[in-house]
Parts: sequence; C-alpha cells; structure tokens
Amino acid sequence: MKAIQYSRYGGPEVLDLVDLPAPVPAPDEALIAVRCASVIPGDWKVRAGHLQEMFPLDLPTTPGRDGAGIVVATGADCDWTVIGEELCFVTEHVEPGSYAEMVARPRGMTVPKPPDIDFAEATAIIHAGVCAWIGLIETAEITAGQNVLIHAGAGAIGGMAVQIAKSVGCHVSATCSAANTDYVRGLGADRVIAYDKDDFAEILTGQDIVFDLVGGDIHERSCRVLKKGGKIVWLIASPFKDVSTDYGVICKQALIHDSRDTLERVTEAVEKGILAPQVSRRMPMAQAADAHRILERGENSRGRIILEIRE
Ligand SMILES: NC(=O)c1ccc[n+]([C@@H]2O[C@H](COP(=O)([O-])OP(=O)(O)OC[C@H]3O[C@@H](n4cnc5c(N)ncnc54)[C@H](OP(=O)(O)O)[C@@H]3O)[C@@H](O)[C@H]2O)c1
Repeated sequence: MKAIQYSRYGGPEVLDLVDLPAPVPAPDEALIAVRCASVIPGDWKVRAGHLQEMFPLDLPTTPGRDGAGIVVATGADCDWTVIGEELCFVTEHVEPGSYAEMVARPRGMTVPKPPDIDFAEATAIIHAGVCAWIGLIETAEITAGQNVLIHAGAGAIGGMAVQIAKSVGCHVSATCSAANTDYVRGLGADRVIAYDKDDFAEILTGQDIVFDLVGGDIHERSCRVLKKGGKIVWLIASPFKDVSTDYGVICKQALIHDSRDTLERVTEAVEKGILAPQVSRRMPMAQAADAHRILERGENSRGRIILEIRE
C-alpha cells in the first residue's frame, strides 16, 4: 500500500511517499481502506520532534491522527462490523497513522460514518469534534445561559466548539482574525472579536468559561475576563504561565482521549444537525509535506486540511 512515512525528526521534507505492506488486522480488528485523513497541528509538531517526551515514537512511522474509510476485511473474531461498512476512526500519534491506504482498527477506535456527509467531511469532525467536545462538555461542563469565550474560533477545533456551545444555549464570544469574523459569526457566535484589530481583554467581562486554544499571553489575559470562580480550559498550544489563583478562577486542561462514547456523541451531533463539518482544503496524499508547511506557517483557517488517500 502507499503511505506517508518519516524515518527521522525534521522539517516537512522528511515526509516520503512509500510502499509498505498493508497491516494484518488482529482477530478483533477491521481492515479499513482509508479514503481521507486529517492533517492536524499535532502531526507537524510530533514530526518536528517537539513532543518527544509526550509521544515517544518508534521510527520510521506514518503520521495521521484520524480518518474515514471502508471496511475491506475483518479479523477472525471481529463481529462488530461487516465488509463494506463506512467508518470513521482514530489512530494515536504513537502508532502507525492515517496517512496510509490501509489501517487496522479495533471497535473502540471507530464509529460509523454519518451517512449524509462525505469522507472528507466525516474526517474533519472526528479529532476536531472530539477535542471540542472534551473541552466544553466533559471538562468545562458548560450549561445553558453561560457566557463562553472561545479562542481561535476559525480553527478546526474552535469552529466545532462555537457550534457546540451555541447548541447548549450559551452566549458565545469568539476570537479570530478580521478576515474570518463573518465565517465565525456564521458558525453561531454571538460576538466575534478580531485579534488583529481589537483586544478581547479590553472588551469582555463576566465570562463563565474560556476555551483557550492559543495559550501564551492569551491565557493570562483570558483570566481577566472571567468571573470569580469561572473556568479556563486549555489544550496544549503555546506554553503559558498559570495565573489562575491570582484571579480566583479555575484552570483545567482538556485531556484528550479517544473513547468510543465520545466519538459517538460527536457523530450524533452531526446527524442531529448540531455540528456542521468544516473542511478548509482537500489535497492528495502525495502533498502531505505541503499540508504540513501550511499548518506550520499558521496559514490554515476555516476547518481541517484533508488528505485524499484513495478515490
Ligand atoms: N492534546 C492536545 O493537547 C491538543 C489536541 C488538539 C489540538 N491541540 C492544539 O490546539 C491548537 C488548535 O488546534 P486546531 O486543530 O484547531 O488548529 P487550527 O485549525 O490550525 O487553527 C488555528 C487557528 O488559530 C487561530 N489563531 C491564531 N492566532 C490567534 C490568536 N492570537 N487569537 C485567536 N485565534 C488565533 C487562527 O485564526 P485565523 O485563521 O482567523 O487567523 C486559526 O484559525 C493547536 O495549537 C493544537 O496543537 C492540542
């Protein structure tokens, strides 16, 4: 099978298109012919060697944290799917990833693909939707009527988060560049603040929740806009100094897991029309290095870059 692989940490040029043997599914696994894979910021950070302590890799490895495809074979004891079923799946950074024509997955790392969206859209909701769900529903525990500020509302995770918070009945504020304010309003944000024109910390007060997908000084300034006892929930982005106790607020990390239950909540939200997939661009697998360059330069906006693996 064709796959993207790298044998050493480095720049996007370490990514090669190679021929590899297809994986053999374990008895409880399905073999999936991959149609699409996401390219996420973590893929380039891991490839560059920035996250070696958190994600120790056996090199060579294939990147890719999620994807969608069709079951083409099943292991001897695999009774949870059938050949031809369309599935979304996740792969951990430390295992062979989704930039490959075939992956083998156990039931717990898959979920049926929502029928009314294509493979690229189905891929775009998986890791991004799970991160937003864990951040807002499982960690922040948002409730109707709360004031919620979401940073990076034009990003893949932020765009999902805006939609989730709106569906819960929160008053949603979001930050993004001036070029994306209409886009983020279109996702459901009640108030959008352009980070390249205005300072959210001078505008907002009384927030119950901040979802921080940026870090750095944004984190400290976010504590100022929270009510006492409010929560700032963060995903690993730029390093920041935790000043939450100075402001009397709670600081919590959204710890990302891939439980099937959370995958199902996300695909259900798509089927109910709560979450609309956001695909920023579609590129062939052979252009994986270019996709990494776009992300690394901070030029991705409005959803996920999707690699098209197979027709
Ligand atoms: N396990 C983990 O800890 C974990 C898991 C998932 C993601 N993450 C991290 O979470 C971050 C977001 O991931 P993603 O997939 O959503 O990334 P993404 O799709 O690449 O989104 C990046 C977004 O950041 C926005 N942005 C840049 N600077 C900003 C600022 N100063 N204020 C507000 N928005 C700003 C950009 O908005 P414009 O386009 O409008 O400029 C862009 O849309 C990444 O750093 C990623 O590595 C961590």
